[in-house]
Amino acid sequence: MTNNFKNLHILTHPLIQHKLTLMRDKNRSAPRFRQLMREIALLMGYEVTRHLPTISHEVETPLARLQATMIEDEKVAVVPILRAGLVMADGLMDLLPTARIGHIGLYRDHETKRPVEYMVKVPLTHSRTFILVDPMLATGYSAVYAVDILNQRGIEDHNILFLSLVAAPEGVKVFSEAHPNVRVYTAALDEKLDENAYIVPGLGDAGDRLFGTE
Ligand code: URA
Repeated sequence: MTNNFKNLHILTHPLIQHKLTLMRDKNRSAPRFRQLMREIALLMGYEVTRHLPTISHEVETPLARLQATMIEDEKVAVVPILRAGLVMADGLMDLLPTARIGHIGLYRDHETKRPVEYMVKVPLTHSRTFILVDPMLATGYSAVYAVDILNQRGIEDHNILFLSLVAAPEGVKVFSEAHPNVRVYTAALDEKLDENAYIVPGLGDAGDRLFGTE
């Protein structure tokens, strides 16, 4: 699928694509599916953190003192959209162990396909960059809603990154129109949504496949 979206970055590293292909297989077990998602999130994290601000930090090696580069990772907040975002968040936390962590609990109303909020906890005091995480950017409604929640707490779009594994063009369009200044990262821009708002070919229900539920 051609990427015509200015704010969408498709991460095509062969390792990411290889692991995503393994995940797409409907016979992949839940533990392996979880492990692959965590590994992909870590690999995507390498790209997503490329523009994080750095500071100079004094460090003493066994031979000398020097000023060296560090990320202020405690100023980064990783915010999974529950529940499917949790495993990707774990992969990012492997890279940024002292990042803050928030949670946005949304479920999709089956009739309206719109998100319904049931829990929000966002670390506001120290955080500067917010990485929102949800593996499936499908209709885009949850993604827009989650960014709206951050905006209402004073966090501006240019300080928010959205990390997904698979995106549908319909969802990216909705999201980009609502929040054109939020950078979106994904491993794949798939073909379309089906009539139940599932991404095709997609992965199926990511939450169910992660946690072995139905
Ligand atoms: N949520 C999922 O888990 N899968 C989809 O395809 C769309 C939304």
